[in-house]
Amino acid sequence: MAERFYITTPIYYVNDVPHIGHAYTTLACDVMARFMRLEGREVMFLTGTDEHGQKVEKAAAAAGDKPQVFVDRVSQNFRTLAARMKYTNDDFIRTTEPRHIKASQALWKAIAASGNIYLGSYEGWYSVRDEAFFAEDELVPGPGGKKRAPTGADVEWVKEPSYFFKLSAWQDRLLAFYEQNPGAVQPDSRRNEVVSFVAGGLRDLSISRTSFKWGIPVPDAPGHIMYVWLDALTNYLTAIGYPDTGSAMFQRYWPADVHVVGKDILRFHAVYWPAFLMAAGLEPPRRVFAHGWWTVEGEKMSKSLGNVVDPHAMVDRYGLDPVRYFLLREVPFGNDGDFSQAAMVHRINGDLANDLGNLAQRSLSMIQSYFAGVLPKPAHFSDSDRLLIEQAGMLHQSVAAAVERQALHDALAEVWKVVGDANRYVDSEKPWSVRKTDPVRAGTVLYVLAETVRNIAMLLQAFLPDSAARMLEQLGVPAAQRSLAQLGVRGQLVSGVQLPKPEPVFPRYVAEEKGAA
Ligand code: MSP
Repeated sequence: MAERFYITTPIYYVNDVPHIGHAYTTLACDVMARFMRLEGREVMFLTGTDEHGQKVEKAAAAAGDKPQVFVDRVSQNFRTLAARMKYTNDDFIRTTEPRHIKASQALWKAIAASGNIYLGSYEGWYSVRDEAFFAEDELVPGPGGKKRAPTGADVEWVKEPSYFFKLSAWQDRLLAFYEQNPGAVQPDSRRNEVVSFVAGGLRDLSISRTSFKWGIPVPDAPGHIMYVWLDALTNYLTAIGYPDTGSAMFQRYWPADVHVVGKDILRFHAVYWPAFLMAAGLEPPRRVFAHGWWTVEGEKMSKSLGNVVDPHAMVDRYGLDPVRYFLLREVPFGNDGDFSQAAMVHRINGDLANDLGNLAQRSLSMIQSYFAGVLPKPAHFSDSDRLLIEQAGMLHQSVAAAVERQALHDALAEVWKVVGDANRYVDSEKPWSVRKTDPVRAGTVLYVLAETVRNIAMLLQAFLPDSAARMLEQLGVPAAQRSLAQLGVRGQLVSGVQLPKPEPVFPRYVAEEKGAA
């Protein structure tokens, strides 16, 4: 049976339209999901929307809608974005669905049955924007002497009856869990933050609210709705059939292989979530990976600054694969990064058009003009031929290893090393001049180049799906032969096959107006 791979995005709050930060988390997951499918793994890739809580309730009121009408509308924006970005999610979960309400209530009951929930009263600070409780000593000074959450969000004083989760009792078990599973929270710097947070002591967590209505009712507790984070985290279980833990789907896919999250929501995933799960007798996820945040032209993205980057507008302007490439390549996955037009154009014209585009286009055009588009048969391989073929052949392993550790930028850097080697190889072998005196040798060089481009395109399928498919078509690689298991298969490129006329895959970006770039 194929190995399985369960990967999830955070579910997005529907208070807002999706921006490039949301597109980013799902993009990274999409690349990993596609890559694992190409590797022959059975993949479950989940995304969706987080539709309960005070923040969404307020946004609905501000829009003059009933919450359900509002969430139905805004959730659709995230599906539209997924289609536009060609995300290959296997399911799209919404927390207002009956399957999710059932799962959340079942998880609550399982945690309660373990003795980890008690009734009390919460009095303290709450940030609606973060949907999080804060202790006095966590607050920071804000304008006008007002205190704010460490995220900069406003806080309000809340006093209400509430159920609590005995998080304080989980400190040692959580620390033991991180110790025994060093890969469970990544990157390492984030893991260290989480460990020191837990080592500093944990307070019990308020997990129900009574001062508003928009949420999942707590079982057998009239007036209480679940804290939105407990509700939201449960989505990862709902989608694979919880509470039916005996189902084939649940058995196959839990625990998840990776929850990808932004650094801002790491604590919920790496501290609260494993504690909830362990309390309910379930295994914690194998890994939580936190990525960094994007700023725009050096500034924090915010509605008030008017600099929120709309992914649709980016795709309209630059094309889908260039946007995907930029987001994945510009910044090491895990670090913060800056989105700027100049950096975007630099990547498109440098890495894509000049380096990869040129390599593919000149190799294929030479086959077209010197050999009438018929893939030449290689003769004797020289040392330089063998070296390049070997480097291209080793790419699979290094790219797979990078994807395995969520180092998507490294995966691309590995590919581009070979792109650079191949371009240097063309320059030094000069097939355009060799062909005049030794057409057989020129044919061998072009075969080596075609084989190198094939390896590159095969490995890029997960990252640049449209462009890689076009490159493989131009190389005559049939769609049925594009799984990565085929990479090691010799003779996949069939000498003597008529190749289609090559078309450039990566156009240069030319600014439409002065200053646009
Ligand atoms: N609803 C919660 C998640 C619940 S998961 C059980 C939530 N939603 S969110 O819509 O606010 O954020 C979703 C994701 O978008 C987070 O991973 C967050 O880090 C990411 N981003 C939001 N703005 C971002 C940037 N400017 N840059 C990169 N990612 C950003 O939190």
